[in-house]
Amino acid sequence: MKAVVREKYGPPDVLHLEEVPVPAIGDGDVLVSVRAASANAGDWHLLRGTPLPFRLVAGLRTPRFRIIGTDIAGHVEAVGRNVTRFRPGDEVFGELSRSGFGAYAEFVAAPEQSLALKPRNLTFDEAATLPTAGCTALQGLRNGRIRRGLRVLISGASGGVGTFAVQIAKSFETEVTAVCSTRSLDVMRSIGADHVIDYTKDDFATLGQRYDLILAVNGDRSIWDYRRALTADGCYVMTGGSNRQLAEALLFGPLLSMGRQRFGNVLAKPNHDDLLLLKELCETGQLKPVIDRRFPLSDVSSAVRYVEDGHARGKVVVTV
Ligand SMILES: NC(=O)c1ccc[n+]([C@@H]2O[C@H](COP(=O)([O-])OP(=O)(O)OC[C@H]3O[C@@H](n4cnc5c(N)ncnc54)[C@H](OP(=O)(O)O)[C@@H]3O)[C@@H](O)[C@H]2O)c1
Repeated sequence: MKAVVREKYGPPDVLHLEEVPVPAIGDGDVLVSVRAASANAGDWHLLRGTPLPFRLVAGLRTPRFRIIGTDIAGHVEAVGRNVTRFRPGDEVFGELSRSGFGAYAEFVAAPEQSLALKPRNLTFDEAATLPTAGCTALQGLRNGRIRRGLRVLISGASGGVGTFAVQIAKSFETEVTAVCSTRSLDVMRSIGADHVIDYTKDDFATLGQRYDLILAVNGDRSIWDYRRALTADGCYVMTGGSNRQLAEALLFGPLLSMGRQRFGNVLAKPNHDDLLLLKELCETGQLKPVIDRRFPLSDVSSAVRYVEDGHARGKVVVTV
């Protein structure tokens, strides 16, 4: 099969297309013929081996994972003897970070619990966008105790995670304010945001509005700015963004959570149940992936570079 491989850590140029053996499946695995994959920020971290603690898992000097990529959608080609949920021909989507990655290839072997049946109303391209970004948005909002009637602010709303977060927050019947730059205001409104704040013109922290739940998906703001915009018993959840945004949530979050407000963070763990929930949201019309660009398998390096540049609007898909 064709796969995009690399032998060393480095920029996207280290990736090249190669002929490799189709992966073998164990008793609990499913062999999927990949139709589409999607790119995530985690790809370039894995590719470059940064930040350095990443290498404790990914290999200190030489990368353990030759084929990167986490999110896939495709057909079931074969199943191991203990697999009960799927059979050959099923259309599935799933996430591979806990089974050795490998999405940028014509076939992957995945444990059955990391897959779910593809939403019936989505294309393979659309379904491949869901696992990492959708689960991050869902688990971040859940961590912030999302419920009906809350006022929710989503900072960094226009990227892969943010476009899912806006829609999932709306599915809980909340009032959603999306923070993005000028070029994404219309997209935010089209996916259901009640209010938009253009961060190039206005500052959510000084507008005088308070929010019950703030999801910091991207951007570079101080935790004190987020605190200023939080209600007296509100929740702040950080899922990504600049090193400062990450570090402050980890360092000061526990301290700031000693009062009535809560400051937490989420490292998403995609799982079968949450994939099913995303599928249901799609099939009931509450969730629709926003795709920015598509790249062919032979040009995964451009897909990863585009995501690394940090200005994707919605998700970036690799068609296989
Ligand atoms: N915790 C987890 O488990 C987890 C999982 C996945 C991703 N992440 C992290 O979450 C973050 C977002 O991931 P993603 O996939 O959504 O990334 P992404 O798709 O690459 O995000 C790009 C978007 O962010 C917007 N953006 C850039 N700078 C901004 C700023 N200063 N303020 C507001 N928006 C800004 C960009 O819009 P403009 O260019 O128009 O500004 C663009 O639309 C990344 O840091 C990623 O590493 C964490």
